[in-house]
Amino acid sequence: MRKKVTIIGAGFVGSTCAHWIASKELADVVLVDIAEGIPQGKGLDLLQAGPIEGFDIQITGTNGYEETADSDVVVLTSGAPRKPGMTREDLLAINADITASNIEKVAKTSPNATIIIVNNPMDTMAYLAYKVSGFPKNRVMGQGGILDAGRYRTFIAKEAGVSVEDVQAMLMGGHGDEMVPLPSFTTISGIPVTQFISPERLAEIVERTKKGGGEIVGLLKTGSAYYAPAAATVQMVEAILKDKKRVVPVSAYLEGEYGVSGIHFGVPVLLGAGGVERILEVPLTESETALMKKSVELVTGSIAALPEKYRSL
Ligand code: 2OP
Repeated sequence: MRKKVTIIGAGFVGSTCAHWIASKELADVVLVDIAEGIPQGKGLDLLQAGPIEGFDIQITGTNGYEETADSDVVVLTSGAPRKPGMTREDLLAINADITASNIEKVAKTSPNATIIIVNNPMDTMAYLAYKVSGFPKNRVMGQGGILDAGRYRTFIAKEAGVSVEDVQAMLMGGHGDEMVPLPSFTTISGIPVTQFISPERLAEIVERTKKGGGEIVGLLKTGSAYYAPAAATVQMVEAILKDKKRVVPVSAYLEGEYGVSGIHFGVPVLLGAGGVERILEVPLTESETALMKKSVELVTGSIAALPEKYRSL
């Protein structure tokens, strides 16, 4: 039987996820949105690209949850995006209600699904989804680290004049401007990045990466990034559906790893059919540890700022 992926939110991120899932023939897709006609129209349009592009999957657009039943993976993209000048935290109250109401329905209709949260503030929304769903922690995670690493790898490749495919990087931390790039785990085909790029330029690249989402919001003015966020999400979907055991940064629920408990936070994980199958603890330098602590404080503060009804879950 074919796998089934539900994407909640048929906006730019959601529909681009559907596009890549279709072109990779990963699974049948159900696209859900409250806007009447939008998921149906986009779903039908994408379906009609199948004969031309040569992909053979079912794509269903709907305003309800019936068609989503028994999904293998559910991706939540719906929520308000940032406008210029806003931080991801400014979206907290509105996106908390959207996350909670959708995840309640997911938990009922797809009790065995793995949930990937994309909406912002992502780590807090992943935490909320974990609490609302009642699912085991390995099956509720947030997407942010692969996107941030994608931005970091892009800038490094450009600076060093090498292929993006040869840049490997690991990041940690919340998906915000206080994310923690790890230069000590950044290589170009295994060669330390510092052999290609000076520490000063690398520091500038790190700064640009941290503000990478805001840079695109500033350019688009009416929304936030979607190609790279969708590509990052689909890499996670693929790792889960194909049990690939990818080693990637994912926002996972921590219970003592890195000395942190009770929050979702970006860490290197082993991602496979079991979702977050293992959290990998890597040794950090003193400065990386200091940056991580700051990022933990921000995510903890964001969770504490959730409306009372969600904090007591
Ligand atoms: C970004 O970083 C939307 O949070 C997403 O672009």
